[in-house]
Amino acid sequence: MARDSLTLRRPDDWHLHLRDGAMMKAVLPFTARVFGRAIVMPNLVPPVTGVSAAEAYRKRILKALPKGAKFTPLMTAYLTDATAPDEIERGFKAGVFTAAKLYPANATTNSARGVTDIVRIDKVLERMACIGMPLLVHGEVTDPAVDVFDREAVFIERILAPLTRRLPKLKIVFEHATTRDAIDFVRAQGPNVAATITPHHLVISRNALFQGGLRPHMYCLPVAKREAHRLALRRAATSGETKFFLGTDSAPHPIADKEKDCGCAGIFCAPSALETYARVFDEENALDKLEAFASLNGPRFYGLPPNEARVTLRRETWKVPAKIKAGSAAVKPFLAGEEMGWKLTA
Ligand code: NCD
Ligand code: ZN
Repeated sequence: MARDSLTLRRPDDWHLHLRDGAMMKAVLPFTARVFGRAIVMPNLVPPVTGVSAAEAYRKRILKALPKGAKFTPLMTAYLTDATAPDEIERGFKAGVFTAAKLYPANATTNSARGVTDIVRIDKVLERMACIGMPLLVHGEVTDPAVDVFDREAVFIERILAPLTRRLPKLKIVFEHATTRDAIDFVRAQGPNVAATITPHHLVISRNALFQGGLRPHMYCLPVAKREAHRLALRRAATSGETKFFLGTDSAPHPIADKEKDCGCAGIFCAPSALETYARVFDEENALDKLEAFASLNGPRFYGLPPNEARVTLRRETWKVPAKIKAGSAAVKPFLAGEEMGWKLTA
């Protein structure tokens, strides 16, 4: 019998872009309404590289929260060629940094100051392995000779596999996995290697980018792949395996920055994220696995207790807003204007 409601421990979002200023103020309520905690990405301009910048950013987030919201931002350090191991350790030990993020230089939005060559952060990675601090990776090479759709698979071969051999104890999250290659790789590693999966990569394949014309709001990085990859992601997410957990990669950009020559990468999925996952798990007859993916596997990997509060989803229709105002700009959410079959109760 199809169920009509589902109660689970309050979920967390293990990969989120909150931005800053008016944009943050506009997008934060969509996350704080649903998720107890979120791993906040550090790719601001300038990036959040040091402990004091992360503390200041955390304060701005807490200040921007709607009244009464119970939400804990978990901060990350943006690794650069110049990152000092001591700064990373100090931030981690002080409880400011939950993890550090590796952006290969120029791989994605605001990654210009990312790492130009992994050997440049050898000492940082060794220190992280030593203190048990998770490394979050944007798993794409930037070599222009590599096809855009192969950049994730090549990253595994050239960067990640050697890294796991060199530092087998390092905790690694393969962020926003988009390929079967990533799923297979993560599965083959020990419990210290996990992956997040976004709602949109469970729903769209690369065809969605070109459906009836060019669709800038379906464009994110890593870019959606072929259908076979989407199906592998769906199997992994709904498997209940502890290695796979929720990370929305909600990444808002003003509509004007998406709909232009050289539009920005990023999909703003926060307004319907949990409901989209519920739809996917429902379609896969795996609603009983949603709590593991959304609320249990992430905290377990990070060594944190799961949330005590509960949330309830009901089978009820509602429409994703067509757009959201953010100061003088507007943002178009993923699935804008579409009808959803699951709704989070207030
Ligand atoms: C993200 C952003 O806009 O900050 N964009 C995206 O397409 N996912 C950066 C990232 O996570 O790659
Ligand atoms: Zn991201």
